[in-house]
Amino acid sequence: MPTAALDLKEAILQLKKERNAVILAHNYQTGDIQDLADYVGDSLGLAYQAKATEADVIVFCGVHFMAETAKIVNPSKTVVLPDRDAGCSLEQSCPGPELEAFLQANAAKNYYVIAYINCSAHVKSLCDVICTSGNAVRIVEQAPSDRPILFVPDANLGAWVMEQTGRKMDLWQGSCYVHVEFTRDSIQRIKDEYPDALVVAHPECTQAVRLLADEVCSTEKMISWCKNAPSDHLIVVTESGMLHRLRKEVPGKTLIAGPTERCACADCKYMKLNTLEKLHQCLDRLSPEVVLPEDIRAKAEAPLLRMLEQSK
Ligand code: 13P
Ligand code: SF4
Repeated sequence: MPTAALDLKEAILQLKKERNAVILAHNYQTGDIQDLADYVGDSLGLAYQAKATEADVIVFCGVHFMAETAKIVNPSKTVVLPDRDAGCSLEQSCPGPELEAFLQANAAKNYYVIAYINCSAHVKSLCDVICTSGNAVRIVEQAPSDRPILFVPDANLGAWVMEQTGRKMDLWQGSCYVHVEFTRDSIQRIKDEYPDALVVAHPECTQAVRLLADEVCSTEKMISWCKNAPSDHLIVVTESGMLHRLRKEVPGKTLIAGPTERCACADCKYMKLNTLEKLHQCLDRLSPEVVLPEDIRAKAEAPLLRMLEQSK
């Protein structure tokens, strides 16, 4: 490894110590960031870690809504992220004021609102409970049976949960721009090439793609599922960062990352805004920092805590 890269890693670890910081990274971060992190996981695991940490500073290597979630559940900590512009197409598809207006216009329905964690603090503050891809089925199963459910913002995840639970829900029409790019045809072509391969897909994929999958699950569950899958060839349909942990933790299997010939899985442009240089800079400057109005934070905390409670 070039000396400059080594120096940068050492400088990050040194600063981490001086700041009494913890580095939390999502499974979609680049390998160099994952390797430096104290914890790498899915949105649910990261929320638990953020709540439990005793560090003074949380450096969140993921996208903005994930860092915001850390601040909501552990407000006395300084929460920083490498790049403030690391957004999410799902978050953008459901602006807080739009959801607020929708709920006002439909007040007579008395919706029980379930929000996928990929949304802003403002949206979280308007909801009854939050879910992640790792616990969405469990959370919907625990929803009151006498109220209609509004599920925001991911229509694909919502449709998958309806299939799993049999519970009807009204779905906000948001989507992840990365996962809806995968097509049934492109995956079928890979399956034709590797007839013994099994397919694991994220629930943000469209139904056409999910129907081809042997397993649909969160990024964390992909690790254990791939370890135990009864095939040596696995087709992984999600964001490319996932391959780093899979290569490390499931070394005996061949990961067929396609569905397109040109790229391995697909990159989320927001996740990939984070770099080691920016990670160093945010630890050094303690900026960009997540700052939230206390009334929004407190209102968003209740449905997040309900989720953590209901996921146990
Ligand atoms: P996970 O919670 O499954 O890691 O998913 C987060 C995400 O943003 C998927 O696109
Ligand atoms: Fe958002 Fe999709 Fe990127 Fe996940 S992969 S952070 S859902 S845009």
